[in-house]
Amino acid sequence: MAETRERVADAVLRPGTVEDIPALRALGEAVVPPTYGPIDAAYAELMLDQWWTPERFADTLPRVRMLLAERDGQVVAMTSFGRLSASHRDFPHVTGDREVMWKLYVHPDHQGLGIGRRLLAEVEAMVEGDELWLEVVDGNDQAFAFYRAHGFEEAERVGDREWPDDVWMRKSLR
Ligand SMILES: CC(C)(COP(=O)(O)OP(=O)(O)OC[C@H]1O[C@@H](n2cnc3c(N)ncnc32)[C@H](O)[C@@H]1OP(=O)(O)O)[C@@H](O)C(=O)NCCC(=O)NCCS
Repeated sequence: MAETRERVADAVLRPGTVEDIPALRALGEAVVPPTYGPIDAAYAELMLDQWWTPERFADTLPRVRMLLAERDGQVVAMTSFGRLSASHRDFPHVTGDREVMWKLYVHPDHQGLGIGRRLLAEVEAMVEGDELWLEVVDGNDQAFAFYRAHGFEEAERVGDREWPDDVWMRKSLR
């Protein structure tokens, strides 16, 4: 336990910028295949190609807030969050606006050390409004359990015939 606390304490959190795009891409290459490959290998590839490219980060960085965790000068985790209305994506099932945590990813070599919990706590402290939403890919049981343990509950399921469903989870911040 003492070692865990020490290792967590050495992670430095800071905002992400366009200069971090190569490190973000490298993080995606390390964490996306082991996360989604066991659910659907083609989907894991699609995720990387659609959401972890330098072009996509350049496009989304002005629209979201991003926090990174560094250890020994290396980016080992990231989260991005913001209002649903600022996203390019279309969400026909949603009426109104939402604060959404779009990404929370910890490099596989650095998972289980409390970094995800720290980033989530920062996001909860930074968002405006009294609810935080997120999407989990159906079958990502580890993330689902992590979010349940941190007070999120399943609220909606958005089906897709071709790809796994998106499970929307919500946490009251009041
Ligand atoms: C899910 C993820 C973000 C969690 O981050 P992490 O740094 O590994 O988790 P932490 O070490 O911060 O865990 C903190 C707490 O959550 C608990 N926890 C972690 N994983 C858990 C799980 N699968 N089930 C239940 N509790 C879990 C830990 O026991 C710990 O509890 P404690 O604070 O009471 O000791 C990280 O593992 C990850 O990036 N996974 C792969 C990518 C992914 O699926 N991201 C989410 C996309 S929606």
